[in-house]
Amino acid sequence: MKDELRILLRKVRESAKISIALAAKRAFVDERTWRSWETLKGAVYERQPSDKALWSFFQRSGIEMPQAFKARANGNPLGQVLSIATYKGGVGKSPITISVAARLVEQSFRVAVVTDDGVFRGMSSDGRGPAPETLASKIDFYDERDLKASPAELKKMKKEIRDNVTNLPREEQQIGEIIYGHLIETVERKKLATENLSDLVTRYDYVFLDINVNIELIRRHADLVAIILDSDCYYSIQSAQAFLADLRAIKCRKAAPSYFGLVTNCDVGGVSSELEEFVGDLPDLNDEILEELMQSKRAQILRRERIYQMIRALDFPILSTEMTASYKVAIEHYNESRAFLDGYCYFHSLADVAPHSHAAGEIRRLTEELINKL
Ligand SMILES: Nc1ncnc2c1ncn2[C@@H]1O[C@H](COP(=O)(O)OP(=O)(O)OP(=O)(O)O)[C@@H](O)[C@H]1O
Ligand SMILES: [Mg+2]
Repeated sequence: MKDELRILLRKVRESAKISIALAAKRAFVDERTWRSWETLKGAVYERQPSDKALWSFFQRSGIEMPQAFKARANGNPLGQVLSIATYKGGVGKSPITISVAARLVEQSFRVAVVTDDGVFRGMSSDGRGPAPETLASKIDFYDERDLKASPAELKKMKKEIRDNVTNLPREEQQIGEIIYGHLIETVERKKLATENLSDLVTRYDYVFLDINVNIELIRRHADLVAIILDSDCYYSIQSAQAFLADLRAIKCRKAAPSYFGLVTNCDVGGVSSELEEFVGDLPDLNDEILEELMQSKRAQILRRERIYQMIRALDFPILSTEMTASYKVAIEHYNESRAFLDGYCYFHSLADVAPHSHAAGEIRRLTEELINKL
């Protein structure tokens, strides 16, 4: 970063009366790092803020990013927006998103993830993030609450707070504040935001929307949506259909994104012989119990086949990359020698923790297929 920008950064910070400590906090860095950004280097330009750090600082301070900083990036980013989504929780939206994003970073693309994920928020507020030097550390993560809301959205949120907190009798307000605390914080942060998602997209090759709540954001901005269909869960089909129906119902001037189903946890045919091995270890099983166990395995296999056929009969195309449950083995292997808190989490990617695993291979194939569909 040139000295003029370092001077500008300091000037903007000082005129907004923001201390270095607060600026550093808003940019998610330590004070020493922030100081180094404001230190003039002459011809040496090695330490410079990431796009994400600058963006977070300006957004969270409610200051419009000066043009000089916006123009810093060289080359024209591709500006493509993808979302791996569905209504059902806990089906792997976030881990698959981060692994695909990391794979693109590995291929030298500029990649961001915009998220409203609860685990991301919890970990970020504890100061946790990707480990240094990993591919995941080169992804820029953005909290959706730091993006500008439309006046209508802001009005709706404020009304909800009035109805459920401010307008309640005084003795009930405290409980309202607890229940609606997240919304109050969202409004506070959104009031400060100066950029919306379209502005952010101009600085990246690929932006992933890891979004659970604000599906309007997906409809308005995504070019491609992969909808997760867990082949081990009948309700994930219903949830995917409901998600797609809601997405289609949102009125929007932008052309609709392309939709594809993404089959996960695929083990149709039940080829694993786990049950036989398990049963073989038990010496005293009589034929009747053995028969019962085999029948229940057969029932499972038929159930999986039925779910798979229902998935294939859906009225939207399915990606040909089918994900298996091999991520479980890769993650278990990674976690084996680690303490609970150091185990696989939101900020890990398979490309970092198990690059030669079967699961990482699936992610590479999925990434290639998604990018080719754009
Ligand atoms: N390739 C994968 N396919 C399916 N699940 C995966 C994959 N990789 C990791 N997972 C697993 O997905 C599980 C669910 O993750 P997580 O709860 O973050 O999903 P999510 O859909 O983002 O949930 P939420 O709705 O809470 O945001 C985790 O236990 C993780 O191990
Ligand atoms: Mg998630």
